[in-house]
Amino acid sequence: MKPRHFLLPVPLLVAAGAFAAGIDNDDAARGHALARAWCASCHAVEPGAPKAPSGDVPSFTAIAGVPTTTSPALHAFLSTPHGKMPDIKLTSGEIDAVVAYILSLKDK
Ligand code: HEC
Repeated sequence: MKPRHFLLPVPLLVAAGAFAAGIDNDDAARGHALARAWCASCHAVEPGAPKAPSGDVPSFTAIAGVPTTTSPALHAFLSTPHGKMPDIKLTSGEIDAVVAYILSLKDK
């Protein structure tokens, strides 16, 4: 196991502000790591990656580029399993991180 070195603890006000803004850079970095671990078997998760490793699965960059891809939409989508997704149970904090990462790809 690699040591985990997250910045702890984030002051509540900062966290609330970042949540309101929809993007938090630390979250996005953590979401990137989570995406590599949990999503990369089906999705191309790296910035700018156009194609998925399997079939018609959209890349994260493609997903980010869709105008209807918003934080609430992604949260709703990721709260339920999809696309024969194995039994991945993300905590709400992990969903926040993955959503932050996907949204960070919007300008890539
Ligand atoms: C077993 C394969 C598989 C895995 C693992 C997987 N996905 Fe998917 N995903 C799919 C498929 C297939 C689709 C397209 C069909 C659908 O929407 O269900 C999809 C669609 C999506 C979409 C919606 C795209 C759209 O059309 O709006 C999002 C967002 C998404 N995946 C995120 C994730 C995240 C985040 C993870 C990791 C936690 C993940 N997926 C893991 C197969 C997978």
